[in-house]
Amino acid sequence: TGMFTYDPGFTSTASCESGLTYIDGDEGVLLHRGYPIGQLAEQSSFMEVSYLLLNGELPSKQELADFTRTITRHTMVHEQLTTFYRGFRRDAHPMAIMCGVVGALSAFYHDSTDINDPAQRTIASHRLIAKMPTIAAMAYKYSVGQPFVYPRNDLSYTANFLRMTFSVPAEEYEPDPVIVDAMDKIFILHADHEQNASTSTVRLAGSSGANPFACIAAGIACLWGPAHGGANEAALNMLREIGTVDRIPEYIARAKNKDDPFRLMGFGHRVYKNYDPRATVMQKTAKDVLEKLGVNDPVFDVAKELEQIALNDPYFIEKKLYPNVDFYSGVILSAIGFPTEMFTVLFALARTVGWVAQWNEMISDPAQKIGRPRQLYTGPVQRDYVPVADR
Ligand code: CMC
Repeated sequence: TGMFTYDPGFTSTASCESGLTYIDGDEGVLLHRGYPIGQLAEQSSFMEVSYLLLNGELPSKQELADFTRTITRHTMVHEQLTTFYRGFRRDAHPMAIMCGVVGALSAFYHDSTDINDPAQRTIASHRLIAKMPTIAAMAYKYSVGQPFVYPRNDLSYTANFLRMTFSVPAEEYEPDPVIVDAMDKIFILHADHEQNASTSTVRLAGSSGANPFACIAAGIACLWGPAHGGANEAALNMLREIGTVDRIPEYIARAKNKDDPFRLMGFGHRVYKNYDPRATVMQKTAKDVLEKLGVNDPVFDVAKELEQIALNDPYFIEKKLYPNVDFYSGVILSAIGFPTEMFTVLFALARTVGWVAQWNEMISDPAQKIGRPRQLYTGPVQRDYVPVADR
């Protein structure tokens, strides 16, 4: 039993080779295909970053136009899928609906599930990226009891999503460019993050040759947890619960207390032992959006003050705990009008690009084999069965 490396939580095991994303956690650096996340968030678009992650290089003008057209051509979902939604309770958490509906895509798109055919893999990838906004918006519409809104493919990816989410009958939602821009940035910041728990889940599921739609559903299930993507919802709920700046010390004390399971949500990271470079952009975007929309949400003041207090506290300094991507995103999403239950759905929407790109990379890798960890066995040694009458 001593033959295996014991590495619970995989803190020091590389599970694959990957050319997509580079993280230097000590320096707080994040690169996609070599490009710094800050530059991509400020200057690029989510469609362009998607192309980059999938194909390895930034697209030419023509390539970007072709890619965008391909994605918008796949935004519709099979009409039968609307019936599938109706099986859920209206008060179901939208992430529960996402796990089910995305998994169900396996049953709708049989012509893109031969994973050994690169053309089918490409179609499956495009379908997933394209349908995610439609599926996410439908999950929201279903939860609030409003009719589904069909995609409008003359709009940008992000504007189309916002319209499908916020339009109501006879009242077309006209997305404010400030909001479209902020939303697009949030999507870029969540697009990929190397071998995080959900991406590793997608790879592990995919390593058995499973259907790509089922693999992404597995990723969504993993992302839901509060230690991972669920942290954006948990972080805003926490900030609202704190409510006012004077109550922050109480929560800081709780986070430091070993006997209290409470953690500061949106704080700390397995890899970053420095400021999360995504949080830097997120904080600035939050400030811009609130200013431009004229929203005065006390939750932003609580967040900024909490960050300052934590960054100067010996506990957080010693453990190198900094705000992560989820700390400020909720402030923006809330200002745009999303309920907290939708936050992790938006994360899933954006991360689908990373999942799909990583899945493709894995399937194309000649070294790829089924992921099958071993264990250190701690159970009883071999013993003989005793009939129930003799026990
Ligand atoms: N508040 C208070 N203490 C913390 C926190 C926190 N947010 N995060 C870590 N610690 C402490 C933890 O108690 C432990 O202390 P000790 O060494 O004395 O036992 C130490 O710091 C190391 O923590 P860990 O749990 O061993 O570290 P990990 O790498 O396994 O966990 C993490 C990383 C992100 C799960 C964790 O920091 C956490 O739970 N953060 C809150 C949830 C969160 O914001 N998650 C989002 C992560 S980023 C985006 C994403 O993946 O979705």
